[in-house]
Amino acid sequence: MATYSVRTSPPLRGEAIIHTAKNSVLPILAASLLTSDPVSVLGTPRLTDVDTLCELLRSCGCQVEWDDSGPVGRASAPALNLCARELCMPANDEPMRRMRASILIMGPLLARLGMARVTLPGGCAIGQRPVDQHIKGMQALGAEVALHQGHIELSGRLRGGSVYLDMPSVGATENIMMAATLAQGASRIENAAKEPEITDLAMCLNQMGARVAGAGSGTIIVQGVAKLHGVKYQPIPDRIEAGTLACATAIAGGNVLLRGARSEHMRALLFKLQEAGVIIAEQREGLRVRGKAVQPLAVRTMVYPGFPTDLQAPIMAVACFTPGTSVFLETVFENRYMHATELRRMGARIRVEDRVALIDGGPDMHGTRVISSDLRAGASLICAAVGAKGETIVEDPQGHIDRGYERIERTLGDLGAPIRRLQPDPPA
Ligand code: UD1
Repeated sequence: MATYSVRTSPPLRGEAIIHTAKNSVLPILAASLLTSDPVSVLGTPRLTDVDTLCELLRSCGCQVEWDDSGPVGRASAPALNLCARELCMPANDEPMRRMRASILIMGPLLARLGMARVTLPGGCAIGQRPVDQHIKGMQALGAEVALHQGHIELSGRLRGGSVYLDMPSVGATENIMMAATLAQGASRIENAAKEPEITDLAMCLNQMGARVAGAGSGTIIVQGVAKLHGVKYQPIPDRIEAGTLACATAIAGGNVLLRGARSEHMRALLFKLQEAGVIIAEQREGLRVRGKAVQPLAVRTMVYPGFPTDLQAPIMAVACFTPGTSVFLETVFENRYMHATELRRMGARIRVEDRVALIDGGPDMHGTRVISSDLRAGASLICAAVGAKGETIVEDPQGHIDRGYERIERTLGDLGAPIRRLQPDPPA
């Protein structure tokens, strides 16, 4: 549970140091189960999703410790040290029900122990989000799979195999890639996801002694090895956090340096903001974002390198302020316009028809009390609140925003936005 108060912001100014990517850190934490050696994930952000996965890893016998002592990583974040010397089946299912990314322990457990038992995962209610592609991949590597009372039970010694994904699922690509690292022989993942976090995971696995080739393309080939060893790894900066801050700037105006942001991971968003009139400059230290969006937008979410579904909600907040009609098409998830209802409470004129949303933007956005229904919906409401007239109270009864943004009120507050967390204190 968290509640934020946000008042109309002056133009944002200064710099934000972009945290390490949640969606890189989570699979890399799961990958630590592939070795009995210590693994250190540098610059790990303080997020409740990270805490949830740590809880789950501990229940698999993995030692997990935060380390603030060494040289601080990105955004002064500490390292997370893990060691899965003694690995077992998760004793506690409860964290799996809370977070979909928990399914990522399936591949590593199966690869190392020859068996895995995981709960069908929970997470943000943004669509059906089945795990059939993960299961299909494990079967292609020779696993026997049974579904039993809401659990997936897998067993078998893995051998190389080929799998074609019906859609380029990020999580399935990661899970299969991890499982294949310790399989006997070569594996091939066709129609693999190409997101930068996939390439990051592959780099980390290769530094652990794996032989993964082709990550970032549609075909990934993994030559199995007998054993992986420990690693110290710094994952990439969070393109979704950087993109959210770019959207907030496009609403409030100003001049902000997103320190560490990697433009090559954010092309789709940057093109869209530029089309809307925002000035973007790629600098050695990161990305500079200047000025307000003034033109309507046409946004179609797609798998990478298309426009990321995770930034659809934040950029819809931008569209609420730009004069003219913006058109959105969400193709990745089937139920990802829940923020539209809350944005309407703030004066937005949004029509949603199935996967299409039409937004008539303008100067009418005003503060009121709104509720965050999922992680990126919460970020969208905070972005909108920065530009709305008066005070907006963003209620986040399930603490979604803390799952993916480390102290968003501090990051935006440092840029000059009048935002306060009313209660409770952020996670330690
Ligand atoms: C990851 C990201 C999430 C992002 C999403 C899409 C992490 C921890 N989370 O989630 O932030 O929104 O990618 O970029 O990295 N699908 C199936 N069957 C499967 C798997 C997926 O039908 O077995 C469908 C899903 O329902 C969805 C689509 O494929 O419609 C994409 O899902 P996927 O790429 O798997 O997303 P996640 O890995 O869960």
